[in-house]
Amino acid sequence: MNTCINDGRSELPIGVFDSGLGGLTVVREMRRRLPAEKIVYLGDSARVPYGTRSAATVERYSWNCTELLLEKGLKMLVVACNTASAVALPYLRDRIDIPVLGVITAGAREALSQPGVGRVGVIGTAGTVGSGAYPAEIGAIDPGVVVFQNPAPLLVPLAEEGWTDGEVPLLCAKKYLAPLVAEEIDVLLLGCTHYPLLIDPLGRALHDLGSNASVVDSATAMTADVVRALDEHALSRDAQQPGGLTCYVTDLPSSFQEMAGRFLGEPVGDVEQVDIS
Ligand code: DGL
Repeated sequence: MNTCINDGRSELPIGVFDSGLGGLTVVREMRRRLPAEKIVYLGDSARVPYGTRSAATVERYSWNCTELLLEKGLKMLVVACNTASAVALPYLRDRIDIPVLGVITAGAREALSQPGVGRVGVIGTAGTVGSGAYPAEIGAIDPGVVVFQNPAPLLVPLAEEGWTDGEVPLLCAKKYLAPLVAEEIDVLLLGCTHYPLLIDPLGRALHDLGSNASVVDSATAMTADVVRALDEHALSRDAQQPGGLTCYVTDLPSSFQEMAGRFLGEPVGDVEQVDIS
């Protein structure tokens, strides 16, 4: 059920941030499922990657992103970055009074929705893996499921470069997945916004390593959470209205604009540079 209210809040945009381009994989799903919603996206391209930084630094960067988006007037905040969701969500929720959604719960739920799941492999940034957020979330939902993790940092620059096919990404994928396949995982959870772009080499690597594990990511499940939260808080826009997407970055808008189509699956309009540090 979609409920609209008339205090004007439902007209406000949904804010989404990521350390760079990767969060556009979440925006793509949101645009598909929620075409009437207005989305304001911030990519912190001046400070990407977050995945190699301390939790305190990621919290600070996440707060800077949140403050900028709040200036635009938001009804909801979506933290599309796995690393920021893993370490900064409670910090953000304590400080603002609109719904704040992260990708970890969605990804964990998606992994556990796979038939016969008993052993989940997670790849993500060093920050996400080190935080233990995915094992904690999966364990909270189903303590019987065993989780194995491996950081896969080189996949982020490969995705940013658009180097998503051929020998190099396949070799990297095999290197990162081999220890997980050795643990006989039945589900591989892509715990990073960038990894869905490497779905082909990751799938091929699993196949070459002799694994039948199914592959899930949080982008689709995340959108289901957004739909649910909009409904719960009566914040949905009238479905007949056109939505929209406005993008901000903290560095190099032209290169973001060039690459964004690959993540978004559609051309991105004007991109404005902002200073949030
Ligand atoms: N957006 C980050 C994530 O999903 C990946 C890139 C980074 O390290 O900042 O964890």
